[in-house]
Amino acid sequence: MDTHTTSPNRAVLVIGASRGLGEAIVEEYVARGSRVVGTVRGDAPTPLHAFAERAGGAVEIEHVDITKRDEVDALSRRLSGRTFDLLFVVAGIALVPRSAIAADILDDEFERMMYTNVLSVIRTVEALDDLVAPDGTIAVMSSGQGSVANNRTGGFEVYRASKAALNQLMRSYAARHDGEDRALLLTAPGWVQTDMGGSGATLRIEESIPPLVDTVDAQRGAAGLQYLDRNGETVPW
Ligand SMILES: NC(=O)c1ccc[n+]([C@@H]2O[C@H](COP(=O)([O-])OP(=O)(O)OC[C@H]3O[C@@H](n4cnc5c(N)ncnc54)[C@H](OP(=O)(O)O)[C@@H]3O)[C@@H](O)[C@H]2O)c1
Repeated sequence: MDTHTTSPNRAVLVIGASRGLGEAIVEEYVARGSRVVGTVRGDAPTPLHAFAERAGGAVEIEHVDITKRDEVDALSRRLSGRTFDLLFVVAGIALVPRSAIAADILDDEFERMMYTNVLSVIRTVEALDDLVAPDGTIAVMSSGQGSVANNRTGGFEVYRASKAALNQLMRSYAARHDGEDRALLLTAPGWVQTDMGGSGATLRIEESIPPLVDTVDAQRGAAGLQYLDRNGETVPW
């Protein structure tokens, strides 16, 4: 991690930070001197708890399951009055293997993926956007798999569809907030070795998250919505 960079995002709220990419984003912002609220669901100890122990008070742990509307609203009330430079909604699920064809998966799997990755993410953005500074950033973890234009290989059918739908909802959100100063970002981290990405993924977390955070930080003050990969390149919609 780059401990020499100071982030313009001094106060950061990461939703879905118990492990994987969300937890790594918390670590990266702490290394850049920021103070971070990271959320987990449930009461079990997580890698975020272990990091918070080592982080000397820079990390505050909050609780929310984004699929539970009452929990999202309660988090919004608990954090009311605070201002964050960056809200980063990272939570997401994949559930079924790459080869699963959309028509063959269980209705319940389809509903859970869409409900979590699409509706619950956008509801979380809507519920928490008041906490973000007027010139701050709202970032949402999308995926390169969400690109309709780049889908020439298929695979991950419903996961792809969920991220494409999330992208579409963020475009509607951005259209409603046209003229405002906030940077709005859909981010694509690459294929990364996490519980979701698996051990065969091409990137280690240390190869994805520092450049991704550089990209998010570089967009501070750039009003409007962009769909960017970790290196700051535009992903075709
Ligand atoms: N890894 C990749 O290659 C890759 C590539 C592109 C995009 N992404 C996206 O990056 C994000 C993080 O992925 P990851 O690889 O870090 O996955 P991961 O290791 O499976 O972690 C998923 C994270 O999301 C949280 N989460 C899931 N459902 C939630 C809910 N209902 N409410 C609150 N938190 C919830 C999990 O919390 P619990 O610990 O409580 O389950 C965990 O912190 C996802 O949106 C994913 O789609 C990943």
